[in-house]
Amino acid sequence: MKFFVDTANVSEIRELNDLGLIDGVTTNPSLILKSGRDITEVTAEICSIVEGPVSAEVTATDFETMMREGRTLAKIADNICIKLPLTLDGLKACRALTGDGFKTNVTLCFSANQALLAAKAGATFISPFIGRLDDIAIDGMDLIREIRQIYDNYDFRTEILAASIRTVNHVKEAALIGADVATVPAATIKALVKHPLTDKGLDQFLADWAKTGQTIG
Ligand code: E4P
Repeated sequence: MKFFVDTANVSEIRELNDLGLIDGVTTNPSLILKSGRDITEVTAEICSIVEGPVSAEVTATDFETMMREGRTLAKIADNICIKLPLTLDGLKACRALTGDGFKTNVTLCFSANQALLAAKAGATFISPFIGRLDDIAIDGMDLIREIRQIYDNYDFRTEILAASIRTVNHVKEAALIGADVATVPAATIKALVKHPLTDKGLDQFLADWAKTGQTIG
């Protein structure tokens, strides 16, 4: 499973990239707002840090303007993935931009039928939002399961990018189901390493090692 970090915060991205923990980045208009930076400038910096795909989202809602914005974003760097909303115009733009050789990420997916349409439009990634479904008392993980089955039934090559992940359990469940990618906030990626028995065991080893009076190397 690939990990993307879901942020436009450059220091978070740099830290996780240095740790070797991430394969890409996803941003959205809300994350750009949170960064407080200009979209072109911050996206270019992110693309220079991370080798993998960096999703940058169009903000238009009509096909023609989406195409123009998508091409503008793609000029920022070779690893840009154009993020498009799951609407009829978004799907049309997805087909056209994919046809032009660009990577695409169809976002705001909340149903299996929407994911089926995105795959038929040739999307590189489909982003089903787990947490936002959980927020309205619908199990977001059921959606990942349904999309996995449909894509496998027809050998669609669109990758399932589990999004709106809020907890470490979301990551585990999505991995068990077979999502290709999880886009995860930086704090949640770092929380994956935590286990109290690891900390306790390490403390014990260090205490015993100190008693030996030895050093290595
Ligand atoms: C995905 O690409 C989105 O940027 C993101 O995962 C949305 O997460 P949220 O529902 O926590 O805002």
